[in-house]
Amino acid sequence: MCGIVGYIGDKEAGQVLINGLRRLEYRGYDSAGVSLTNGDELCVVKRPGKVAALSQAVQEEPGSLRQHRVGVAHTRWATHGPPTQVNAHPHLDRSGRIAMVHNGIIENYRDIRAHLEQKGHAFDSETDSEVLAHLIGDYYQGNLLEAVCAALQKVEGTFGIAVICQDEPDQVIAARRGSPIVIGVGKNECVVASDAAAVVAVTQQVIYLDDNDVAIVTPGAVDIRDLNNVPVNREISELEWSDTSAELGGFEHFMLKEIHEQPDSIRNAIRGRMDFDNGTAVLSGLGTTPREISEVQRAIIVGCGTSMNAGMVGEYAFENFADMPTEVEQAAEFRYRNPIIKASDFVLAISQSGETADTLAAVREAIQKGAWVSGICNVVGSTIARETGRGIYLHAGPEISVASTKAFTCQVAVLLMIALKFGRCGRLSCTKGREIAKAIESLPMLVEQVLERNDIIAKEAEKWVETDHAFFIGRGYQFPVALEGALKLKEISYIHAEGYHAAELKHGPIALLESGIPVVALVNEAPGKEKTIGNAHECAARGARIVGLITEGDTETAALMDSVIEIPKCPDYVAPVPMAVALQLLSYHVARLRGCAIDQPRNLAKSVTVE
Ligand code: F6R
Repeated sequence: MCGIVGYIGDKEAGQVLINGLRRLEYRGYDSAGVSLTNGDELCVVKRPGKVAALSQAVQEEPGSLRQHRVGVAHTRWATHGPPTQVNAHPHLDRSGRIAMVHNGIIENYRDIRAHLEQKGHAFDSETDSEVLAHLIGDYYQGNLLEAVCAALQKVEGTFGIAVICQDEPDQVIAARRGSPIVIGVGKNECVVASDAAAVVAVTQQVIYLDDNDVAIVTPGAVDIRDLNNVPVNREISELEWSDTSAELGGFEHFMLKEIHEQPDSIRNAIRGRMDFDNGTAVLSGLGTTPREISEVQRAIIVGCGTSMNAGMVGEYAFENFADMPTEVEQAAEFRYRNPIIKASDFVLAISQSGETADTLAAVREAIQKGAWVSGICNVVGSTIARETGRGIYLHAGPEISVASTKAFTCQVAVLLMIALKFGRCGRLSCTKGREIAKAIESLPMLVEQVLERNDIIAKEAEKWVETDHAFFIGRGYQFPVALEGALKLKEISYIHAEGYHAAELKHGPIALLESGIPVVALVNEAPGKEKTIGNAHECAARGARIVGLITEGDTETAALMDSVIEIPKCPDYVAPVPMAVALQLLSYHVARLRGCAIDQPRNLAKSVTVE
């Protein structure tokens, strides 16, 4: 979604800002802009399309612009009004002396706009953000901080903002409510950003703003207040990422790089967390005792998209390892349907970014209702990680590709560990616990074996180039993988794909089958395997082409399929990981052969911070 960068320091701000925007490109956007000031002038350059077009436009500006030391910049993912130059950020106030970039949505912008229009304000764009810029200008009486605080007290909705003023060129004002802001504090310089990816090139020392914080950012120093201008303390922390973690490292796409990183990212996710002697997992981040765990009556897993699919794998593990009644819920639905939650419920929020608006709202609802709430997040210091206060980090490293890959497999690994720990606090025997622990430990090796089949999977992808529709079917632990396989394919290749429980096809979707449509059947060694093979045959009888994801060496099943991708032999509860990796590679190669923009698919954003 939208990206913010602000800079003040001893470097050329324009250059730092454009570099920062490039590092936010992965989030998905459709226009970009920058504003710079030196006290004598405040200039704005905006372009629809890519950051490269903006960079070119900045290069063509008069030389003085490039020497300015303070500025703000933005990549916009359109919500109010199409992705045009005029709707792009930064937006100016009425005087043209204040420039602001904004992430989030101002819900009462129509009322504010009407009120300002009565006072003679005219607006160039259709955006809610321009209204906020005007409101700040309306309050401005020589003190930008006070004007920002006054304006933010009037707005409803969410914001992460960075503001500069020609009359006060020695500071950037930043603020947040519901939309993340991180401030990198370097020597004689500071970077304000919506995402740490834009900060790492300058410094690894960062401060995360909390909701309703307003920061006065000067070269090398940050002073934080609340909306009433009362000072508040926020700690400086160290980023886990290095500058090179957001680079391609020889791979053609970030998605391919991240698929190949999975053996290491899973190793990082499980490192130091397995206790093989006792057949359990050591998860101090959960911050709870075995006795408290044994008192949990029900687990509720919330998330969106890929994270929710991982949660569904977790549901099977919680039920199988820990006899724990478990529900998985789409976070947006959970937040609005007034769910019945008790103090004995364990609510687990899963989010790679830790910023997804609906998952965050679900967390707040569950905390409000008194449940024990934990998070599984990848981004350290993200809002969900901080608001849950306890949980497990994936340690997967930055996931740049919009399509989630390594986060999914690490989420599954972490969910298996939590389920194991819960099981061992209940009736799961030590012997069975050790067996599960060993299987979890084998995950990186299983993934390596799938990666070795890359060429076979690429060959299979060649048959998919002209495909318009595809189906993925599975049962048990592989049902969520079927959903995930379909999600991955549709988002990056734009092939219409649906995942179903294998038994569900007959209840309607089978009507869609036509000659040659691929149906991917997930048929490893697991209960219900023969039934899934039967369902695949029903599809074949209607002309579908069956691609089997089968256990290595299973020649009998292979003989029943049109083509096969083998995954290594493993227990069914860990098979979602190698299965998912095979499907990630399949989607990747299909999308590549179709010439799609793999890392930044159309219409999608990496972190969905609006409802
Ligand atoms: C799909 C994908 C999305 C995300 C979803 C939740 O490849 O990336 O479906 O999984 O937007 O995002 P997080 O995990 O950041 O909450």
